[in-house]
Amino acid sequence: MFTHILYPTDFSDTAGKSLAYLKALRPAGAQEVLVLHVIHQRILDTLDTLHAVVYFQDGRYHEDREKAEQQLVADRTEKLRKIASELENAGYAAKTVLRKGYPVREILKVEKEEDVSVIVMGSHGRNNLRGTRIGSVSEKVVRRSVSPVLLVKR
Ligand SMILES: Nc1ncnc2c1ncn2[C@@H]1O[C@H](COP(=O)(O)OP(=O)(O)OP(=O)(O)O)[C@@H](O)[C@H]1O
Ligand SMILES: [Mg+2]
Repeated sequence: MFTHILYPTDFSDTAGKSLAYLKALRPAGAQEVLVLHVIHQRILDTLDTLHAVVYFQDGRYHEDREKAEQQLVADRTEKLRKIASELENAGYAAKTVLRKGYPVREILKVEKEEDVSVIVMGSHGRNNLRGTRIGSVSEKVVRRSVSPVLLVKR
């Protein structure tokens, strides 16, 4: 029933806790995990702002801006790869997907594009505010997804 898992991660502690649950689902018949990270549009916009300042100082906006984004992509790719190889060691076929944009939108897009039977994600993410019962990404995904969602509590 839960053969194809979509695992969106922001590399937070709570998202990381999902790994134990993912591993437990393997003997229950799960076969594949798609590990997804979305580089938030806000971060890309921040890069633009920061490097616009540099531009006014020495005119190197484009070069530095591109370098910063490439480093970001390399870092996130490496993190995804590590998680995938941990899942492969647990007997899964693991795929990684890196997207840019808004997490909820991209998670739901990937859900549509791929053959997903369950989404496994954290109840909270990197913000992890004390008072919040559930993060905004998990809340919207639970509301809008077609697949069942397993929310791992913080
Ligand atoms: N950029 C992202 N890419 C992939 N998955 C994400 C991303 N952001 C959040 N998630 C997933 O959603 C879960 C819940 O994170 P969420 O962002 O909703 O909580 P939060 O950071 O505590 O609060 P908020 O972002 O609403 O202030 C994470 O554990 C992770 O599984
Ligand atoms: Mg968040």
